[in-house]
Amino acid sequence: MLAIRSQFFNHFNQHPSVVVKSPGRINLIGEHIDYNHGFVLPAAIDKYIEVAIGKRNDGAIHMVALDLGETIIVPTNNLMPHTTIWVNYIIGVVDQVFNSIGNNLATVNNNLFSNETNLAAGFNISVQGNIPLGAGLSSSAALECAVLFAINEMYGLSFTKMEMALMAQSAEHKFAGVKCGLMDMFASLHGQKNKAILLDCASLAFTYYPMELKEYSIVLFDTQIKHALASSEYNTRRLECEQGLNIIQEKYSSVKSFRDISLEQVKECLISWDIPKNKMNEYKIQEKSTKVSASKVYERCKYVVEEIARVQLAVNDLQKGDMQAFGKKMFETHEGLSKLYEVSCPELDFLVEAVAHNENVLGARMMGGGFGGCTINIIKTSAVEAITKALSAKYNQVMHKELSYYIISIEEGTQLA
Ligand code: GLA
Repeated sequence: MLAIRSQFFNHFNQHPSVVVKSPGRINLIGEHIDYNHGFVLPAAIDKYIEVAIGKRNDGAIHMVALDLGETIIVPTNNLMPHTTIWVNYIIGVVDQVFNSIGNNLATVNNNLFSNETNLAAGFNISVQGNIPLGAGLSSSAALECAVLFAINEMYGLSFTKMEMALMAQSAEHKFAGVKCGLMDMFASLHGQKNKAILLDCASLAFTYYPMELKEYSIVLFDTQIKHALASSEYNTRRLECEQGLNIIQEKYSSVKSFRDISLEQVKECLISWDIPKNKMNEYKIQEKSTKVSASKVYERCKYVVEEIARVQLAVNDLQKGDMQAFGKKMFETHEGLSKLYEVSCPELDFLVEAVAHNENVLGARMMGGGFGGCTINIIKTSAVEAITKALSAKYNQVMHKELSYYIISIEEGTQLA
């Protein structure tokens, strides 16, 4: 990447006030669990989105995506979802800042008439990055967090990292239409070098765990595909889980979230459950929708309850340094995501199955939202090269696609650059 400061200057003829870099993330275990109030175990990685920003006085946000060579200008008094996707991650978080402290930031800074302190007066922003897009490494969350962090710094606001994570999540719901959980933004902002973070998605308490991989490496295999249905299926999974939870709560009123539910209760309430006709609307199910069926609701909820328990056991493995046991759970998670939660795809399954019986691979599974993107693998460092070579050839032969791979390191979260 060319230095972002000089790129910014070349484009806007102004030196940036603030430059920020924000990382992508991996998730070791706990998939599709954040919005179900379980536990996730993500970490920030050595791939980043960088932004440079500087103030303006014309009431507009001037944005340039350096890698794409695109420039877009949006007035600050008319923030709404934009047809250019990347723009939404910038204006979406600006909208959140306005929502949380009002349109005139000058009042916050006790300087009512100076545009210098007023976000509504506009700013210039340039963006570049090396997080592969659409690979499930959360480039969009990294961009949102970078923008928020930069605004927070430039206007002297004092949002905490957790507040910024929640704002970025709301921006994604409102401007990108994906009802995502908190994990990606949380991880990008809170990352620490060589540590995985256990986030309790109900209380938002979190704990850092050292990742002592010793002779092992974390390798991501990138299917190079992203199915168009990813975001609509994502929202459907969320709805299916909510429906399952509602049904269980009808019988067990003390149940607050999936955290309080046993597998027995899932079986008892959902295995032979059928949607009563008069409840169709209540469960927000369209009669014509074949996507949501009673048996699917059972399978989704079974996966969620199993995965919540699995993450807790996996953290014990991590604390004991038992990476063999940890890796085994990653394979189990993949099985659940593929068969019960149905967010995998043939390419992801292929990549996991191809390494499943390799003694140098401790664990592998699809990672992130699914329907494409990457698998995450824990592989003996000395075997990475040979495995990658063999897998690339096989993938090419069977799936007729190129395989990309990234040997990643675990790094600090969003920071000034
Ligand atoms: C996407 C979402 C996250 C999370 C994962 C699945 O990355 O943005 O909130 O739900 O999928 O674990």
